[in-house]
Amino acid sequence: MIAPSLLSADFANLAAEVQRVADADWLHVDVMDAHFVPNLTLGLPVAQAIQAVSPVPLDCHLMIENPERWAPGYAEMGARNVTVHAEACTDPRAVARDLKAAGALAGLAIKPGTPLEDYLDVLPDFDTLLVMSVEPGFGGQSFIADVLPKARKARELVDAGHLTLIVEIDGGINADTIEQAAEAGVDMFVAGSAVYGAEDPSKAIAALRAQAAAAMNG
Ligand code: DX5
Ligand code: ZN
Repeated sequence: MIAPSLLSADFANLAAEVQRVADADWLHVDVMDAHFVPNLTLGLPVAQAIQAVSPVPLDCHLMIENPERWAPGYAEMGARNVTVHAEACTDPRAVARDLKAAGALAGLAIKPGTPLEDYLDVLPDFDTLLVMSVEPGFGGQSFIADVLPKARKARELVDAGHLTLIVEIDGGINADTIEQAAEAGVDMFVAGSAVYGAEDPSKAIAALRAQAAAAMNG
């Protein structure tokens, strides 16, 4: 499954940019607060406006401090999946509970340097694990392959029936990197520049999806 990241879209034409990826599985919306990451993007009012026009379910990736305070609002406004950063949570399980009570899937994100082992005990409460394959903050960075063992480990735990998780990867996913991520067992691929930087985003989505499917079956 492919989730184009709006971060690489034209922010002055969001309604039109959303329509260009209408055949995606999720639409990835990067929320940054200039505290948890050194960049500022958009918040709840803009996410809500996107939700109102998007034919694709929203996948809100909150790169913010104090997610306990802000994350439930994204679930309440109708996002399909809301992901918070493990490094920013004091009580990840409480956030997961609130997100699910508000009707969304609950996602936990880990930065490239954050070990999966530190969060194995809270993962049963989550629906999505977002493995960051770049340092969060900006689109267009190079893929960090060193994170793949974390995706592989999560896949093993899911396949063994110990966890029920969508394994998602975010950062530097393109035609050169998606196959290794698919082989590691990723289900959901976030792609910003690879989709919105393409002449035809819809064709780019189809090509990435086909590549991932071939790598998974191969
Ligand atoms: C980075 C964001 C990513 C970003 C990915 O902090 O979380 O979602 O948009 O962009 P690409 O695919 O260009 O690396
Ligand atoms: Zn993201």
